[in-house]
Amino acid sequence: MIFGHEDRGIDMKIFKTRDYADMSRKAANLISAQIILKPDCVLGLATGSSPLGTYKQLVEWYKKEDLDFSKVSTVNLDEYRGLNKDNAQSYYYFMNENLFSKVNIRKEATFIPDGADPNPERACAAHEEVIKRLGGIDLQLLGLGNNGHIGFNEPADEFIKDTHCVNLTQSTIDANSRFFESIDEVPTQAYTMGIRSIMRARKILIIVSGEEKADIVREAFWGPVTPKVPASILQIHRDVTLVADAAALSKAPL
Ligand code: F6R
Repeated sequence: MIFGHEDRGIDMKIFKTRDYADMSRKAANLISAQIILKPDCVLGLATGSSPLGTYKQLVEWYKKEDLDFSKVSTVNLDEYRGLNKDNAQSYYYFMNENLFSKVNIRKEATFIPDGADPNPERACAAHEEVIKRLGGIDLQLLGLGNNGHIGFNEPADEFIKDTHCVNLTQSTIDANSRFFESIDEVPTQAYTMGIRSIMRARKILIIVSGEEKADIVREAFWGPVTPKVPASILQIHRDVTLVADAAALSKAPL
């Protein structure tokens, strides 16, 4: 089902799906369309629970020979500072496990901020440079943090523009602790694409699932645009698609 959001002067496409599986299939369809229409496209990718089903679906379609990643390049939103690529909790590892090693993408065309680089300025500038060299992002996939973050742009007094090193908030550390043995192991810093780096993507696809995100979905897409809810900035992007399940949209004024 699709809803326009033009009544508020906002051109956001909203797909309300039944559940997580339905959301994942819809998101994978939109990403497939991008790859089919522009085989050498640049995809901006996310980690976390939200895109897992989407990646699984893309892998299935690749196996059926319906998708070809051979000319695709990818850039990821973020990486924990201080984790090596072979650390099972690193986003590098996540991307390899869930997508890159399962499709015919060229490894050298996949870019993730270098969490092992202890120098934040160098690591972040290098990531910005990669995005520039690739000619910008055609389609950026995003998840939505419980506190409204996108990438690791945490609620703040202002939007931070470029790729930067961020101190993760306690709510993000708590949310991410589910992937670690203990909360003490969760890194407290990350390198993340900034708000301008994300907003420069030609298209944005944000996926959200679950009732626990219903309040933040309403705030982010129906509330005021504010750095206190970083995802709210997406309201002023000119090509954004929200694919969310009924539970995540249960508090939205649709
Ligand atoms: C991940 C990322 C984060 C997540 C967000 C939602 O690369 O940038 O913004 O998208 O924390 O996480 P999940 O999907 O695990 O609820």
